[in-house]
Amino acid sequence: MSATTAPEPLAWADDGTHRIPFAAYTDEAIYRRELERFFYRGHWCYVGLEAEVPKPGDFKRTAIGERSVILVRDAQGGLNVLENVCAHRGMRFCRERHGNRKNFVCPYHQWGYSLKGELQGVPFRRGLRQPDGTVHGGMPADFDTAEHSLNRLQVAVRGGVVFASFDPAVEPFEDYLGPEILGWFDRLFNGRELVLLGTNRQRIPGNWKLMQENIKDPYHPGLLHTWFVTFGLWRADNQSRLRMDARHRHAAMISSRGNAGKASEVSNVSSFKANMQLHDASFLDIVPEPWWGGPNAPDMPDGAPVPTAVMTTIFPSVILQQQVNSVSTRHIQPRGPGEFDFVWTHFGFADDDEAMTQRRLRQANLFGPAGFVSADDGEVIEFSQQAFAATPGGEALAELGGRDVGDTEHMLTETLIRGMYRYWRDVMEAPE
Ligand code: FES
Ligand code: FE2
Repeated sequence: MSATTAPEPLAWADDGTHRIPFAAYTDEAIYRRELERFFYRGHWCYVGLEAEVPKPGDFKRTAIGERSVILVRDAQGGLNVLENVCAHRGMRFCRERHGNRKNFVCPYHQWGYSLKGELQGVPFRRGLRQPDGTVHGGMPADFDTAEHSLNRLQVAVRGGVVFASFDPAVEPFEDYLGPEILGWFDRLFNGRELVLLGTNRQRIPGNWKLMQENIKDPYHPGLLHTWFVTFGLWRADNQSRLRMDARHRHAAMISSRGNAGKASEVSNVSSFKANMQLHDASFLDIVPEPWWGGPNAPDMPDGAPVPTAVMTTIFPSVILQQQVNSVSTRHIQPRGPGEFDFVWTHFGFADDDEAMTQRRLRQANLFGPAGFVSADDGEVIEFSQQAFAATPGGEALAELGGRDVGDTEHMLTETLIRGMYRYWRDVMEAPE
């Protein structure tokens, strides 16, 4: 892929990443390089769940970076990810978000494609025969449909989750995650059949990295989110661990609920509301599930409390969420340096009983665009971006817990953010 205009080097304080120049969030040339180097090359990006396309012909339109792609199940049951760009004149031919098709037909000139992306039909390919026997127009005689398929991406499926890559040379998905993060991935997606419960989508006026940072920031949930602090779902005094892959691009924040409603040091936090009560206590009808601990929960020291919340960031495109009984994926789709779409897919498991399904749906009220918790995150991202855009030369500080990068057994650190920017600098500052 050709390079766009090289960005101006950022004014990092030194070779660390504990101060992040605001321009990393606003500069157009940096953003273009991020798309090329993270979303379009060398990385696996999330596209969806197998449960979203259960039957042959089922498809879902989504995005990798700014490029539109279609996840579709073919007649043989295989999964294909096709770029939504007609091989004729380049139209984004698929307009529906999801549906079922025997094939795809571009509306512009009605070129038809199989569910594997092969070009099958070209109207008037052989021109139009005239009454005198001559033929007018049509494609050249050497036009070969086999050379004009849709762009078909690399696909990796694990535990019912589908990732794709534009890069034919991308490393195997399991190597991409690395053993530590793969263990946390497999704890959630351990092979059980998934069931789609619903989706939300929102457009957040902030840089896409801020959402990765938000879920690599265990400092804020117990301070910003009244709901979390007061009802004990995420507090600084919960037992917790932070884990990264070897390159520090992915991370897992692991926390065990305790101290709900009890006073402690966090009682001094202004967002802790000792007298706050729920009108409907069923939001906190939390039922532990066998998979929370167990053999698929990696790296569990003897006697460690079972994790009740594990937030996993898979760089650059997705967050995997377990907050007690609510499980979802959150897909990041950038749209320029100052905006991204954020798509939430709430799911359950085929062996859930009806009570568990209802419980997951109720707890999903914490999340999504108007969630009790996550509405706060959308706002702080918006207000951060406003300052980055208006204040050139500024820098964000990420020095909580020191200036280095490493796994920890507590939450009072910004090490995961520093780690992500170590990786970011490695990739973004490399020569072509
Ligand atoms: Fe799709 Fe012409 S652009 S058929
Ligand atoms: Fe948050």
